[in-house]
Amino acid sequence: MIKPHGSDSLNPLFVYDPEQHRALAHEALELPQLLINSAASANAVMLGGGYFNPLQGFMNKADALLTCESMRTMDGLFWPVPVLNLTDNIDGINGAKRIALRDPNVEENPVLAVMEVEAIEEFSEDEIHFMAEKIFGTTDAEHPGFATFVSLGRYCVSGPIQVLDFSYFQNEFPDTFRTAVEIRNEIQEHGWERVVAFQTRNPMHRAHEELCKMAMEAVGADGVVIHMLLGKLKPGDIPAPVRDAAIRKMVELYFPPNSVMISGYGFDMLYAGPREAVLHAIFRQNMGATDFIIGRDHAGVGDYYGAFDAQTIFDDEVPEGALQIQIFRADHTAYSRKLNKVVMMRDAPDHSKEDFVLLSGTKVREMLGQGIAPPPEFSRPEVAEILMDYYRSQAA
Ligand code: ADX
Repeated sequence: MIKPHGSDSLNPLFVYDPEQHRALAHEALELPQLLINSAASANAVMLGGGYFNPLQGFMNKADALLTCESMRTMDGLFWPVPVLNLTDNIDGINGAKRIALRDPNVEENPVLAVMEVEAIEEFSEDEIHFMAEKIFGTTDAEHPGFATFVSLGRYCVSGPIQVLDFSYFQNEFPDTFRTAVEIRNEIQEHGWERVVAFQTRNPMHRAHEELCKMAMEAVGADGVVIHMLLGKLKPGDIPAPVRDAAIRKMVELYFPPNSVMISGYGFDMLYAGPREAVLHAIFRQNMGATDFIIGRDHAGVGDYYGAFDAQTIFDDEVPEGALQIQIFRADHTAYSRKLNKVVMMRDAPDHSKEDFVLLSGTKVREMLGQGIAPPPEFSRPEVAEILMDYYRSQAA
């Protein structure tokens, strides 16, 4: 099986041993407490599940700055986006050796992890903006990821963690939330050797569906892991339970049995385009996928990134051999009226724009909101039905 990133075996930071778990949960009650932000809590969940292997916890300042600058840590580990626990309030933890990290996203803020504090350092305003610009490729405060990042706090609380809980993800998405450990195990149980991973934060339309099928065919995959984001999104994006239902329906009706694993991960969307694509590739390698689909405007938002920047970063900035997972680079994909099927535009050089069924995200949202199903060439009718129900419930 493909090796995880940066180590021979996967080292999830969740404490699986019940005795040790009990002891840590007990100790945590006596420790100084830090209520962390949602981004840090999502990082802890990813570290817990093995997705951020081989990191041992939250990065310190030097690692974070170098990660932003040149996509590596001080130890030389290739890593594209800093994994940070930023806060503005260190009153309760100053000088503490061990602290309990509390979850902002669950009622009563239960303990999410115990941290061995290595350092509490302060970022200057300039350093925060430097990092944000490197991660998001913009200095525009309107960019949702940039805006979130610069508001997280100035103090960097770093050190190894032991994770006690997977936040709200396990309770809210019991059938869908999976750790990297679980996905690796399931891949092995299926006996799959070549495995394509598909990232998504949207309900899957025809283009998404066909991308999975085309990638599977092209690499000769045994299966595809549809891996949806279950964490926080910007306003206007469709909530995870609705996307989950739509994806399940599509897989049930339009994929061969036993070829798809439907799963999700607990992380807040960054909208960081190319840098996020590289992070995505790392955590798909950690969960055991051999190939990863990157299409048009992967993890993008608005017009911040070129349509294929999230692909070219792998050619221009990812050092040879840094990752084992292969990138399946997909061109803009849409239904061809001439060929009566979904194709990648590069495979239909004789087509003009009018030969494709093209709808913008805004147009699709508008139609669904008005109870109009997008054409079946764009969305499967059963998927459109679920989405229209959602928009109807919003309007009620
Ligand atoms: S993302 O933010 O998670 O990337 P989305 O769920 O829409 O958004 O996309 C999932 C994957 O499908 C990404 O790799 C994206 O590039 C790709 N993709 C989505 N729509 C198309 C399309 N029409 N043509 C090519 N690739 C696409």
